[in-house]
Amino acid sequence: MSHITAGNKKKITAPAIKARKGVAPIVALTAYDYPSARLVDEAGFDVILVGDSLAQTVLGYDTTLPVTLEEMIAAARAVRRGVKSALVVGDMPFGSYHDRADRAVRAAIKYVKAAEVDAIKVEGGANRVPIIKAIVAAEIPVMAHIGLTPQSVLRMGGFKVQGKSMDAARELLEDALAVERAGAFAVVLEGIPAEIGRVITERLTIPTIGIGAGPDCDGQILVFTDLVGLSFGHKAKFVREYADVKMVIAGALSRFAEDVAARRFPGPQESYHLPTGTVLEPLEEEPPSMPPLGPIN
Ligand code: KIV
Repeated sequence: MSHITAGNKKKITAPAIKARKGVAPIVALTAYDYPSARLVDEAGFDVILVGDSLAQTVLGYDTTLPVTLEEMIAAARAVRRGVKSALVVGDMPFGSYHDRADRAVRAAIKYVKAAEVDAIKVEGGANRVPIIKAIVAAEIPVMAHIGLTPQSVLRMGGFKVQGKSMDAARELLEDALAVERAGAFAVVLEGIPAEIGRVITERLTIPTIGIGAGPDCDGQILVFTDLVGLSFGHKAKFVREYADVKMVIAGALSRFAEDVAARRFPGPQESYHLPTGTVLEPLEEEPPSMPPLGPIN
């Protein structure tokens, strides 16, 4: 990690991340909004990925498939505003780059123009080579992502560890070499045996950033809500929770609710007051008195 102080921020670029191979581990995390981006950037992380995991962690979907380019761009704009130093990578959502290279380039350009991300990420290996080449040719740095690619959940039949047989491991290495040759500046390795993560890392000249790919990758990335303990549902084997933010929030919510119910909130210090010495006078005229009622017939 760069350990840069708030007053001494240096912008991290895609070439700088590429040059980190063999120098120092790359520390990366996802972020989806302004507060999480600020916290991650101020902690000195190198890379912030606006991950399409937002579909699950923030929007509550079961998979990443439904999230749209517009939703990703809205999140990336908020992240961008919170980041001074880290490299901001915008994840290209499912369907935004899968059919044609020209459409993929247009989507990537829209991402960069609207959210000012520093790079974009696409999932897939050898099958994405034309798309990676086209986006790189449009001057946009590309981070690749192979192994357990969540956008392939329908083809894989679930979120399953990849590269477990020797044939599958050879195919993974081919994918890694293909995205490197296509011009990717780094590659995420997700959900693969640690031994294969090590071999791919040794073989490539670009950095590997692992998530469930063992300790030998050139960097590590986790999902923000997993790291801080704010995720719901299944916890993957590769997750280490460094805090229990869900419990902290639940405690705060119930204390507030109890205080309101018991009229302990707001107190004098959370209330505005008239200037000292102001005499509180009646704020309304006396209501007009009713005329006497006449005889009722
Ligand atoms: O969307 C995401 O959060 C990701 C990381 C798991 C790498 O792609």
